[in-house]
Amino acid sequence: MIELQGVWKTFSVGPVRVHALSDVSFRISRGEFVILTGTSGAGKTTLLRVLYGAERPTEGEVEVLGRDVPSLGRSEVAALRRSLGVVFQDAKLLPARTVYDNIAFVLRALGTPRSQITARVFDALRKVGLSSRAQAYPAQLSQGEAQRAALARAIVRKPPILLADEPTGNLDEGMATEIHDVIKDIWTSGTTVILATHQAGLAAVLKRRTLVLERGRLIKDQG
Ligand SMILES: Nc1ncnc2c1ncn2[C@@H]1O[C@H](COP(=O)(O)OP(=O)(O)O)[C@@H](O)[C@H]1O
Ligand SMILES: [Mg+2]
Repeated sequence: MIELQGVWKTFSVGPVRVHALSDVSFRISRGEFVILTGTSGAGKTTLLRVLYGAERPTEGEVEVLGRDVPSLGRSEVAALRRSLGVVFQDAKLLPARTVYDNIAFVLRALGTPRSQITARVFDALRKVGLSSRAQAYPAQLSQGEAQRAALARAIVRKPPILLADEPTGNLDEGMATEIHDVIKDIWTSGTTVILATHQAGLAAVLKRRTLVLERGRLIKDQG
């Protein structure tokens, strides 16, 4: 479902060349839950961006859902992203819309029939434990609730793959654990998950396959 072969990503900052990814290869099968860890600057975000087509690798092969990602044109990248749920450290909710509307917005944009929207939004909210906050505005949410809303928005299209980039980076340990549990529930219901986090200790509790990046190199793949 996901395969990288000899992937390099080199950024040039003035005269300096930074290898954000150095010869990274791995394969992820449908239904896996994979933790991607490593200290800040190790290349986690760059790796996820390469997977969803936001960065083109300098070298190497990237296949996601049967597509050769580096060769995709702009509209094909947009189509790929509609098959991927993505969440970030910042929930990025639209502040002037309720939780319900933040999620319904995605379905309306896809042309989902009106009659199905309410049920699908509440189904997603139930999965993340946020049904009671549907009419709240983002400013009224705790950071943990905001991340639950972002997760609901990411999964409402039922994407086969969820990519999470430091979704608990702004949260205290208790809330981070709760969000990891929600992500684990999403995985249990059949979504392939890649969770990037520098909080290796928190992620270790999940006891899933772990890829460790160090200065762009994949130094460990275990579990
Ligand atoms: N657009 C960019 N331009 C220049 N350097 C970048 C860019 N994006 C990332 N980098 C560099 O690539 C390395 C990996 O960054 P990143 O993927 O953000 O790591 P992580 O997410 O693990 O913190 C870092 O040295 C970072 O400074
Ligand atoms: Mg990052």
